[in-house]
Amino acid sequence: MDFDLNEEMQVLQEAAREFAQGELAPRAAEADKNEAWVGDQVRMCGEQGFLGMAVSEEYGGSELGAVGTSVVLMEVNKACPSTGTTISVHNSLVCEALMRYGTDAQKQTYLPKLASGEWLGAYALSEAGSGSDAGSLVCRATQNDDGSFTLDGTKLWISHGDYADVAVVFARTDPDGGNKGVTAFLVETAWDGYKPGKKELKMGLRGSNTVELQLDQLRVPAENVLGEVNRGFHIAMSLLDTGRIGIASQAVGIAEACLDASVKYAKEREQFGKPLAAFGAIQGKIADMATGIDAARLLVFRAAQLKDEGKPHGREASMAKLMASQHANWCAKEAVQIHGGAGYTRDFPVERYFRDARVTEIYEGTTEIQKLVIARSYLRD
Ligand code: CAA
Repeated sequence: MDFDLNEEMQVLQEAAREFAQGELAPRAAEADKNEAWVGDQVRMCGEQGFLGMAVSEEYGGSELGAVGTSVVLMEVNKACPSTGTTISVHNSLVCEALMRYGTDAQKQTYLPKLASGEWLGAYALSEAGSGSDAGSLVCRATQNDDGSFTLDGTKLWISHGDYADVAVVFARTDPDGGNKGVTAFLVETAWDGYKPGKKELKMGLRGSNTVELQLDQLRVPAENVLGEVNRGFHIAMSLLDTGRIGIASQAVGIAEACLDASVKYAKEREQFGKPLAAFGAIQGKIADMATGIDAARLLVFRAAQLKDEGKPHGREASMAKLMASQHANWCAKEAVQIHGGAGYTRDFPVERYFRDARVTEIYEGTTEIQKLVIARSYLRD
């Protein structure tokens, strides 16, 4: 058993850290303040090969595997979680979808563009009435005589749905089929009927656009069905097994940023004639932050390693996301506390970390859903 990253992964981590701290971190506060889409940052990630991490070299990807992807996502999210969300969704929910379920033709058409960063991918599952209960979605896909499908309905909370070039869209092909009546479609956003709507005004991740999506008589050719008709729910769930490793990595990155900021401030700030770092109350917070981060990171790498070995990793991904996201929120709260009044202002990044961390317990399955997935995996047999 080896708890260290191998040499290749350490080199990747160092390169990702240098890039993220050099290029992404200095732009993060401004993107948050102006609610400005992190398009330039995503493009730069593409130049680093970070948009093709889940894609094999055959299609122009950097094929980093799940462990490598986690290593990169931790560094990117430590610097800029808005960029981190974008590249996590693109890699683990869209590129991964094509790699796992795409036909040869679909792979040839989309993967080289996605891997190079020429195209960005979005994932459209949630609706107003189906968030946690994803299987109850109502967006309709009706098959036409020529085999194509017409999609109608409204999707909600779609990350960068207004900047994506292709989206994996889930729609109902059998009105009475429950979660066995859902199909996944590869939709090019330039097609008629793909209409990004209201942009959400969010608490955090303000550089990542989250939009409503209108599907208005959107015609999708039969060859753009992803996987089998009526098997879309299984596809959605199995992709989220991988996506949740990405969000857990994001949470670890945010928690690390909280720890670094807290250590720096605790050494600099003096009260009662000595640095905050000299007080046991502060030392306790630092120790708890660091210990939880290490535990969360190990859970992330365990889930990622299982994925790279081709083994089931759903339970472990949920455990990693559950623990990492809760800990990131706790770290963010304590980082603000250590900074005191200063931490409540925008003069210090911990205020932004506090807001950015919040959604890691909500999207790609809430904390409550992760517990349900974990508990069911023990109770079902
Ligand atoms: N992989 C493959 N198949 C799976 C699976 C998995 N991980 N989990 C469940 N399934 C299959 C089951 O085997 C079952 O198949 P059969 O009927 O053929 O046996 C079928 O799916 C139904 O399973 P359940 O009975 O467990 O389904 P459920 O309706 O009880 O729902 C749930 C399960 C875990 C609650 C699920 O709905 C869920 O994960 N909800 C959360 C949704 C979510 O995470 N949304 C995120 C939106 S995307 C996003 O946030 C991206 C972004 O922009 C950042």
